[in-house]
Amino acid sequence: MRDKTKDIDQNQVPLFSGLLAHAGRNPWQFHIPGHKKGAGMAPEFRDFIGTEALSIDLVNIEPVDDLHHPKGIIREAQELAAQAFDADYTFFSVQGTSGAIMTMILSTVGPGQKILLPRNIHKSILSAVILSGATPVFLTPEIDQQLGVAHGISLATVRRAVGEHPDAAALLVIYPTYYGVCSDLQSIVATAHQHGIPVLVDEAHGAHLYFHPDLPLPAMKAGADMAATSMHKLGGSLTQSSILNVRAGLVDPKRVQAVFSMLTTTSPSYLLLASLDTARRHLAVHGRETLSRALKLAEEARARINSIKGLWCFGMDIIGRRSSSFAFDPTKLCISVKELGLTGLEVERMLRQEFNIEVELSDLYNILVIVTAGDTAESIDTLIHALQSIAARVTGRRVRRGRVSFPDLPALAMTPREAFFSRTEAVPFTDSAGRIAAEFVVPYPPGIPILAPGEWITSKNINYITEHLKAGLPVQGLEDRTNNHILVVAN
Ligand SMILES: Cc1ncc(COP(=O)(O)O)c(C=O)c1O
Repeated sequence: MRDKTKDIDQNQVPLFSGLLAHAGRNPWQFHIPGHKKGAGMAPEFRDFIGTEALSIDLVNIEPVDDLHHPKGIIREAQELAAQAFDADYTFFSVQGTSGAIMTMILSTVGPGQKILLPRNIHKSILSAVILSGATPVFLTPEIDQQLGVAHGISLATVRRAVGEHPDAAALLVIYPTYYGVCSDLQSIVATAHQHGIPVLVDEAHGAHLYFHPDLPLPAMKAGADMAATSMHKLGGSLTQSSILNVRAGLVDPKRVQAVFSMLTTTSPSYLLLASLDTARRHLAVHGRETLSRALKLAEEARARINSIKGLWCFGMDIIGRRSSSFAFDPTKLCISVKELGLTGLEVERMLRQEFNIEVELSDLYNILVIVTAGDTAESIDTLIHALQSIAARVTGRRVRRGRVSFPDLPALAMTPREAFFSRTEAVPFTDSAGRIAAEFVVPYPPGIPILAPGEWITSKNINYITEHLKAGLPVQGLEDRTNNHILVVAN
């Protein structure tokens, strides 16, 4: 555990400095990676990436420590991160937030134990549920009818769930959502803790929250027991690098380290690890200033978008509209385009083809744009002019109305693990009522699985999905790309 009495200087980058010092000694390398500082590598890639970067592409030789048993510069870097993220322990992940999420789940729930979790989960969560053999108890997130997206789970939903399942081994919360909406995590944590249930947070979209007071309370400050936080998404590190923050007490950090090690490659990239160390320093030292700039740009962009007829970009007005929405990350611009009579996907493609703009995502009704410290007045202007141009062209077309009514959650016939490891067969989707699903079916929007492995298929589910497909809306999850067949547990 980091020594909380010791205030370590966040200006340090022990891991990056250690790697530079090692590379500076220019050792004769008789170990992998075989490219040996780039000398034995395809020249076009070496020239592109540069020999400086390649000189720290190393393996776990003694001077640069070992992620699996950190005792030196990796340990120091993780302790600095723990201080910056208000955690007792921080583990560096080179396998994205997916790896950190799987570690959280596999270190807290085992075969037959219950895990409470929302329905709109990332696939790494279900993968961990399958691997662990846990029984999921799905909680329905709040659906925003106007936007057609799922927000967080409400405190009332959590209260009901822990009341009904006080024996649950863990509660998993997505915070913030992809769209930047935050539930009342502090109260959710307090409720779960009354029953001794640890709270695991998928904080993939919240790395920056720790570094500016105008952003929603980050998970560890809200009392979470663990948070898987994508440094690479909004914290400025290289893609695939992430962190797992841990509070000792309801979870055992030794168990977390053991599971983390089980799930992690024995050849972690030191480039990724160094980028975590330097990103942490940059956030801790300069985060407030760079995020202030991003917040200002985002708020200006939001106001300008809202002055364009046919577009709506929600802001703090979302708070309190749903019982789950408690705080909001203003750097997320979720732009509803449905009043233009266009789908989000159509607008995404117009922006790409005509304006060379790439957005974060689109769904039926919205595009999502993220504003970070990497933005400038010019990038925001370019976006606004493109949106103005699209809106001017299409205003007046038919208004699309969303239908997001959701059938009841199906009953679980067996655990997702049992379904996953069962013999399966593909049957016509329309004839599948009464069978047990062996795969997910996820209509977009709102991106909530209508069926998950192990659940009974009902005619109501089939009708809902068929209507969705008939309307030309995307349905994900089925192995059969034509969406005609579903994998079910064989009779
Ligand atoms: C909500 C959520 N959780 C987890 C993940 C997984 O993160 P990573 O891509 O770092 O594995 C994502 C990725 O987009 C996500 O959106």
